[in-house]
Amino acid sequence: MLHTSYIELSKNALKKNLRYLRNLVGPDVKIVSVIKGNAYGHGIKEFVQMAEECAIDYFAVFDIYEANEAFSVKNFDSDIMVIGMIDEEGIEWCIKNNASFFIIDIERLKNTISVAKKLNSKAKIHLEVETGLHRTGIETEELPETAKIIKNNSDYLELEGLCTHYAGAESIANYFRIQTQISVFNEIKEYIKKMGLKPKYCHTACSAATILYPETRMDLVRIGIAQFGFWPSKEVRIHKLLSDDTKYRKDPLNSILTWKSIVMSIKTVKPGEFIGYGNSYQTVRKTKIAIIPIGYFHGYRRSLSNVGHVLIKGKKTPIIGMVNMSMMVVDITSIKDVKKGEEVVLIGRQGKNKITVSSFSENLNLVNYELLVRLPQHIPRIITN
Ligand SMILES: Cc1ncc(COP(=O)(O)O)c(C=O)c1O
Repeated sequence: MLHTSYIELSKNALKKNLRYLRNLVGPDVKIVSVIKGNAYGHGIKEFVQMAEECAIDYFAVFDIYEANEAFSVKNFDSDIMVIGMIDEEGIEWCIKNNASFFIIDIERLKNTISVAKKLNSKAKIHLEVETGLHRTGIETEELPETAKIIKNNSDYLELEGLCTHYAGAESIANYFRIQTQISVFNEIKEYIKKMGLKPKYCHTACSAATILYPETRMDLVRIGIAQFGFWPSKEVRIHKLLSDDTKYRKDPLNSILTWKSIVMSIKTVKPGEFIGYGNSYQTVRKTKIAIIPIGYFHGYRRSLSNVGHVLIKGKKTPIIGMVNMSMMVVDITSIKDVKKGEEVVLIGRQGKNKITVSSFSENLNLVNYELLVRLPQHIPRIITN
């Protein structure tokens, strides 16, 4: 074992998640898999290959680094959409590799045209419009000029999409803001059509919008967190599970990720001794401990010291003492026959027990998204069935 831990990705779980999402949106809506942030920590290269085997053929990334990662493994026919940062070099990369990208302002639109002219080629663009998120997107008053530029440069531009992004569709507190965004987008869509432009896909929905607001699905949905088997928030989960018909009595989303390590060594400590650095944990009885070669260097949070658990032989096993840079200690006194090399589950299922990402999030006050993307890139990802 070259690494001290590895992450298993379950193709079966991904299939189930995508089946649920496909049923939700119907056969005619394109599903784009959002794989920014190293595929939400799952590993872009491994995830792309696995998703393609589950019939996904369009991937959204944040920048050209991520685009390159996906490009290096994707099928010839799969597409890439860059939804974030891109400069002139990136625009050139996209045009040469037939990747689409967001036009977030007029400057990027003009740069795109000059690069496309230089290459004597067409750029595949998605016009992102401002509807109320106030992050990126063409302002409403800039639309006439934008539409004119696009029309006058149709030899160099293919308008593949008209899109926007919602300001937190996963929270009911944002309900009215989202409703306003939906109507602003619909007005813009009409205007763009009146100007004679015909985007192939109108798209606005992330996971939460796809699940909670059916009218936002339009021609294409950009699905991130849900494909990995996580609800965008507890509110979305409860709302959906209560409102769905009874066939979803079981949670339809399944986490595809399991993070595993092994027991590195075992020893017994007398009562009254402190464990590891400092004095945060003192044994009250004869205690059998197992050392796990995982620490904060590997993405396991120090704040889980004396709080977190792992699974060994299917049993929830508490971390005692501080999580170190590369190791931590767990109490295995009540678990029989634990041996060196024994499997340890840090996130995921073992036997009948499970450690969820959200249980980490509750302990650490982090949302699923943040915890997942912090899983270091160097941990190997292995696809399982
Ligand atoms: C523009 C855009 N679309 C779609 C998504 C996917 O969101 P989610 O992971 O909530 O599905 C994101 C992620 O933040 C995004 O920035």
